[in-house]
Amino acid sequence: GSSQPSSGQAEAGKEAAAGGEKKVLKVGTDAAYPPFEKMGPDSKPVGFDMDIIKAIAEVNGWEVQIEHAGWDPLFEDIEKGKRDIAISTITIDEKRKKKYDFSDPYFDAHQLIMVPESANVTKIEDIKDMRVGVQSGTTGAALAEKILGKGNTKLRGFDDMPSAVEELYAKRVDAVVGDNGVLNDFLKNSGKAGYKVVKDPNVVPEQYGIMVKKGNKELLDEINKGLKTIKENGKYDEIFRQYFGE
Ligand code: ARG
Repeated sequence: GSSQPSSGQAEAGKEAAAGGEKKVLKVGTDAAYPPFEKMGPDSKPVGFDMDIIKAIAEVNGWEVQIEHAGWDPLFEDIEKGKRDIAISTITIDEKRKKKYDFSDPYFDAHQLIMVPESANVTKIEDIKDMRVGVQSGTTGAALAEKILGKGNTKLRGFDDMPSAVEELYAKRVDAVVGDNGVLNDFLKNSGKAGYKVVKDPNVVPEQYGIMVKKGNKELLDEINKGLKTIKENGKYDEIFRQYFGE
């Protein structure tokens, strides 16, 4: 039953008894996706995702240790067991679900196309003949590849999102495809005028989940429990308002 203590809690209990220490949750992220994750002072990732995982950890009595891993290593490190969880605006999708387990969704998102204001783009098909920048290995990259075709040299993949957006500013790509939150953040806060974001209502929406190693059910249950608690007690809304307003 759900009232039974999980062995995760038992672990934490043991540690507490032995050393008076809390269980430390090792968290990885790609700290280049503002406002969800970016580098803060002392090379510590900060952002919406970090506040969410800290709030969940508080519910469960855990300490968190958050590290910037980078996007690809993030996945590998979970597989290898180097870290317990990854939180990094990771879209829950069928392909990833084969290799990893995900928490309940914690955020609704969708893809946007960022282009110069003058560009004639209203739907995703309009980028077909453009030079398109994406972050490699993301759902945005997969969407752009679907439109441009696999192996198309006009599709340019970057290790992180800021690099793709820089290429747009430098006019070396004509469009960038990525998540709404991050592209809106660049639009608002980069200080560059003359760009817009376009939403194609026919592109399927996405949801973010917290990722754990496949089969790590105990941890996942506790994460979900914590998530449920912060949604019920107003903490989630408080964090949401802080980053996205009402
Ligand atoms: N939501 C998209 C995906 O899962 C992009 C996430 C990129 N996040 C990041 N922190 N780099 O593919």
